[in-house]
Amino acid sequence: MEQVQELALARIAASDDLAALEAARIDYLGKQGSISALLKTLGAMTPEQRQSEGRAIHELREAVSAALASRKAELENAALDAQLAGERLDMSLPAPPRLEGSIHPVSQVMDELAEIFADLGFAVATGPEIEDDWHNFTALNIPETHPARAMHDTFYFDRADAGGHKMLLRTHTSPVQIRTMVADGAPVRIIAPGRTYRSDSDATHTPMFHQVEGLVIDRGIHMGHLKWTLETFLKAFFETDDIHLRLRPSYFPFTEPSAEVDVWYRLEKGRRVLGGSPDDGKDGGWMELLGSGMVHPKVIAAAGLDPQEWQGFAFGCGIDRLAMLKYGIDDLRAFFDGDLRWLKHYGFSALDVPTLSGGISA
Ligand code: PHE
Repeated sequence: MEQVQELALARIAASDDLAALEAARIDYLGKQGSISALLKTLGAMTPEQRQSEGRAIHELREAVSAALASRKAELENAALDAQLAGERLDMSLPAPPRLEGSIHPVSQVMDELAEIFADLGFAVATGPEIEDDWHNFTALNIPETHPARAMHDTFYFDRADAGGHKMLLRTHTSPVQIRTMVADGAPVRIIAPGRTYRSDSDATHTPMFHQVEGLVIDRGIHMGHLKWTLETFLKAFFETDDIHLRLRPSYFPFTEPSAEVDVWYRLEKGRRVLGGSPDDGKDGGWMELLGSGMVHPKVIAAAGLDPQEWQGFAFGCGIDRLAMLKYGIDDLRAFFDGDLRWLKHYGFSALDVPTLSGGISA
């Protein structure tokens, strides 16, 4: 029995992985194991034999079990140490390069607009992109039969709302004028940037595009306030005084009088660059930037205000076009392709937050 013990302990000590150790355990203590076989002989022994030999067998089993357990613990500790060593991270190494998101030029320009207009005392208002035809058309003095409804290439939904109004994707941000006046009354000083939709698609039109609406309602507001506000806004936005605007008489059902605002651009190597004027003799042209005018008394009344008491101006401006002009982007369609290379090239860092003190441009 001493010999068995010696051999067993030597084999256990020499087992250098858990599988080898388990094989040893089975050989000694498993059902068919040699020590298990010795234990089975106890039954046939006389009480005296059991006294002497029996105890020796039990001691042998104890010694071998203890050796198995301690070797097992040793091997497990060694395995854990090896694993920990393998998983060690060197925190002093520089982080590997990884893809970063970027701020889309449209989002960046919206932030710039909010910053500029906040400085002029304007709040930012929003409205739903799924509108009803009352807010999008009727309240804006575009009745059912008005040809302007057809001009808007509207996306209609099949179902009407609970009040029987046709539902549609808003064709402009002007319904936010109505919603703001209805909700807050007067005076009003807001801009409303957001998505707008028209069934129109070519090199310069996408079915979804962005506008920013402006609305001021107060007592004694006149066209001079409109012109000053637009000039101040565009100079701040393009960060230059070298900007030549033209107010062109126009027509919108919801403003009277109405004016479209064009800006003069120079052509540099085929690219439209802001600045210069029609009299400097250089290549250039007018680019239509926005529609504007004095809010029609019918619109003020439709929103529940007294047009004898309250007047105001409004404007609506394409944001995508502002972004293209300011940041030298040629193709409108690329705005909405989600191409990572384009986003990386034209996108902005999340840390480039526009502020008047730090600079409006990224
Ligand atoms: N809603 C008009 C458009 O989409 C723009 C506009 C807004 C014109 C406000 C006048 C006043 O074309």
